[in-house]
Amino acid sequence: MSACFYRQTPMHFDSQLLTKYSKPGPRYTSYPTAPYFSTEFDKQAWLEEIAATQHQNRDLSLYVHIPFCDTLCHYCGCNMVATRNYQRATAYLDYLFREIDRMAQLTTPGRLVRQIHWGGGTPTYLHPDDIRRLFAHLKSHFSIAEDAEIGCEVDPRELSAAHVTALVESGFNRLSLGVQELDDKVQQAVNRVQSEALIREVYGWMRQAGVASINMDLMVGLPYQTVAGFSGTLDRVIDMAPDRLAVFSYAHVPWLKKHQTLIVEESLPDLATRIALQQLLLERLGQAGYVYIGMDHYAKPDDELVKAQRNKTLYRNFQGYTTHKNCDILAFGVSAISQTEEVYVQNAKNLNHYQEQIDLDGLATERGLRISAEDRLRRDAILKLMCDLELDGNAFGEQWQIDFNSHFADALKQLEPLQQDGLIERNSHMLRVTDTGRLFLRNIAMCFDAYLDQDTGNTPRYSRTL
Ligand SMILES: C[S@@+](CC[C@H](N)C(=O)[O-])C[C@H]1O[C@@H](n2cnc3c(N)ncnc32)[C@H](O)[C@@H]1O
Ligand code: SF4
Repeated sequence: MSACFYRQTPMHFDSQLLTKYSKPGPRYTSYPTAPYFSTEFDKQAWLEEIAATQHQNRDLSLYVHIPFCDTLCHYCGCNMVATRNYQRATAYLDYLFREIDRMAQLTTPGRLVRQIHWGGGTPTYLHPDDIRRLFAHLKSHFSIAEDAEIGCEVDPRELSAAHVTALVESGFNRLSLGVQELDDKVQQAVNRVQSEALIREVYGWMRQAGVASINMDLMVGLPYQTVAGFSGTLDRVIDMAPDRLAVFSYAHVPWLKKHQTLIVEESLPDLATRIALQQLLLERLGQAGYVYIGMDHYAKPDDELVKAQRNKTLYRNFQGYTTHKNCDILAFGVSAISQTEEVYVQNAKNLNHYQEQIDLDGLATERGLRISAEDRLRRDAILKLMCDLELDGNAFGEQWQIDFNSHFADALKQLEPLQQDGLIERNSHMLRVTDTGRLFLRNIAMCFDAYLDQDTGNTPRYSRTL
């Protein structure tokens, strides 16, 4: 094992580099990224793909999207619907059940489910009985591995101990708590007020119930966020000692999410503050013993993500970093994205359209993409750099039957300035992300992205990297 795989959070913080490399870029939870999915790949094409890949018997990862939230957080970038009318969730569950039924009919019985994730919106918007009902429905249709990783996103507000009991008794062993920021002024500005006491109470229920791994989501770049305020948040979060932390840079994309116009641009921290917030984050989480995995994710040194990174078995998909490589993803619900080795498909993003499609035939596929051999190559290179933090050009060339240096001559050329800036090291056949470079994984990956050049539209598709 090379020492570089098991490093503590980098301390080589360079604000000039952050300024230089803060530009719009994808997060590479897929490659090619979702804006390139097309309606030309339709439901019929997805049905053919499902039929053609059953014999591979690959393990499964199931994703369920619950879009509902009680209230709207002004910064929200997720596919969500704010409503107090629970009837909408009850009706939606019925649609989900039908989608699960249909997909289970199309799937060879016995394919092992290694991972389940419920995301949103807010899955815990569902009442405890409905959480149990939905999980039981999945369980009766799929073979879930004994040691499956079963995760759910949890909003601490409007949550009861009965929700946590329903989750744990159903089998959830990884819960992720939306904390974002504890500073009062920030919470009020984004319409998400939740006290530290509330978060501690919910966290206590989870620990008491024996949840194996608890993650907290934080955000930087929110309106009125200051270094002093965020420092207080970090003190309190570190004191609670979650197993993992995901710290997202606020993606301000009002051209895509109209409600983000509720956030006054002048209230957003300037670049110097955002850089100071990042610096604080890296220092404080590093001192507290968290390992920086990459792409905003931190974990305790004995966490499976850290071990997987060390063993080069870490993978990245729509749920972020995962230890489960080689799974097909079957995704249920509005906007949910499924994946086989060569195909991505996304369900209708609009709730009414989703329900209309399920009414038709139990599937809601709206767009997708069959990736080319070249896409697969490039995806593999991007994944290796983002997960393993290194790429052996010789081994890669052998695996894909190419000469790495000539095949990726363009990418290597684009990497040269990043090399000069000390983000990546290169010798004859090895590419290695440096400690500093781990903060710039998106920028490194972008050098291998053959689609970025095609971006000619006036609207920026992606949020900036910082
Ligand atoms: C689906 S939400 C988590 C569950 C639950 N709805 C909640 O908010 O607690 C997923 C996470 O995405 C992050 N997020 C939401 N909008 C974002 C944005 N515009 N930019 C960056 N991260 C964002 C937040 O950290 C949030 O916890
Ligand atoms: S951040 Fe979570 S709770 Fe807030 S609107 Fe978005 S999905 Fe809903």
